[in-house]
Amino acid sequence: MYKEIDLNKIKLELEPPQEEPNRQYYFIAKCKEKVKEWENHLGYQPKCCVITFGCQMNARDSEKIRGILNKIGFEDTELEEEAEFILYNTCTVRENANLKVYGRLGKCKHRKEQGKKMCIALCGCMMQEPNVVEKLKSSYSFVDIIFGTHNIFKLAELFYIYLEENNFLGKKGQKEQKHKMIIDIWKDTNLIVEELPEKRKYSFKSSVNIMFGCNNFCSYCIVPYVRGRERSRKPEDIIREIEAQVANNVKEVMLLGQNVNSYGKNLEKPISFAELLQKIEQIEGLERIRFMTSHPKDLSDELIQVMAKSKKICRHLHLPVQSGSSRLLELMNRHYNKEQYLQLVDKIKKAMPGIALTTDIIVGFPGETEEDFEETMDVVRQAEYANAFTFLYSKRTGTKAAAMENQVPQEIVKDRFDRLLKLVQEKAEKFAQKDVGSVKEVLVEEVNRHDCSLLTGRLSNNILVHFPGKKEMVGQFVNVVLQECKGFYYYGHKID
Ligand code: 5AD
Ligand code: SF4
Repeated sequence: MYKEIDLNKIKLELEPPQEEPNRQYYFIAKCKEKVKEWENHLGYQPKCCVITFGCQMNARDSEKIRGILNKIGFEDTELEEEAEFILYNTCTVRENANLKVYGRLGKCKHRKEQGKKMCIALCGCMMQEPNVVEKLKSSYSFVDIIFGTHNIFKLAELFYIYLEENNFLGKKGQKEQKHKMIIDIWKDTNLIVEELPEKRKYSFKSSVNIMFGCNNFCSYCIVPYVRGRERSRKPEDIIREIEAQVANNVKEVMLLGQNVNSYGKNLEKPISFAELLQKIEQIEGLERIRFMTSHPKDLSDELIQVMAKSKKICRHLHLPVQSGSSRLLELMNRHYNKEQYLQLVDKIKKAMPGIALTTDIIVGFPGETEEDFEETMDVVRQAEYANAFTFLYSKRTGTKAAAMENQVPQEIVKDRFDRLLKLVQEKAEKFAQKDVGSVKEVLVEEVNRHDCSLLTGRLSNNILVHFPGKKEMVGQFVNVVLQECKGFYYYGHKID
């Protein structure tokens, strides 16, 4: 949420202010003038299309990007082909995420070549890799703006520089200029810019970053290299943001961090994640609190107690295990072994019977043997997950694991992956099945995309339910009987 700033009151004839976020509001106002001019040329309001790859962090960043673009004067569209401003917010956690982006860019090039006046911007994790930017400069030189994960807040400033440097709207008397790509990538930063605009998909639920970056350096993972060191937002800033959202109808908040359990450790006044949760719980009108992701090594007893007592914290915990083999967990630099993980699962389930546990699992980490893989299957059997995200190991240049020997042959990885997926599906179904017949509270999220007589909502434990209802119920809590379990979701009907 942001303070309402009247862009008309910003003195554009003056130099831009140095301090944030005022500097960005100045550039938003500057860009707005330009976009209005563009609109007059076009005869319609120019459209922006923001395409997000990857995790919830990126999804949240895209809400901020859309907020800025809308303030500048662009109208949202989901169709790339009708957009005047296309932005790809990229992910690089696995190789195939990168490949998808190059594929999309090829199509944009075609549109530009056909004469469409448009701006193509790239940002996010993939842009933090120096070899990616080199490749874009040499083979994708039609891209207009490139920035990274640390300076998303600067979008308006960069867009303004782009418009000026390229004489985009063709000022009279000036010659057409050679295309200039604007690149601004920061290696790392301590800067957190608060109070910028945002545009959320749902009015009644939100996500809020409580921290940025990661210090864990799991040996397979590129995130610490592309998102920088861990830094927490001040609790008062987080609370203020959520309070403003709640005043605007938000009922459910998702707190985001790469490892929420280490929240607050390096603040001037240190505070634990459990303490933060207790403060957030007191916000009147807020009804559900979710968070992700929890690293098992840092999950405290204090957090379990706070969760167990809470009426607002949802009955769901995402607890990535990555592997069930203690040998591999050590090589992965995870700082726990199989027994410790299972003990933690036990403790959580005793404190909160019925809680939905979900996890992330990587198959085919370098040197993974059949025995290692069996340990993973064993954890899935014992932990009885409500769901698991399973990933084929992907070698990321620059990480420790990329230099490890014994990369596992693809066909073996694929075979293990299929076996794991089958087990995960069985366990998910078993978990969901036990609640069939019960009545649960659902937050209605949307009209079902495939059948508009149905609504889709989410239980506290994060499982989806489809049931007949009217679109006026979207954003409300309703009680639903869970009639039929379909594996990862239910069909139900509403009761009064
Ligand atoms: N290969 C496969 N999966 C990975 N993840 C992170 N890095 C890799 C990689 N190199 C997975 C982890 C993490 C999730 C977000 O992505 O399971 O928890
Ligand atoms: Fe990557 Fe590990 Fe950090 Fe998660 S905790 S973002 S897996 S390094």
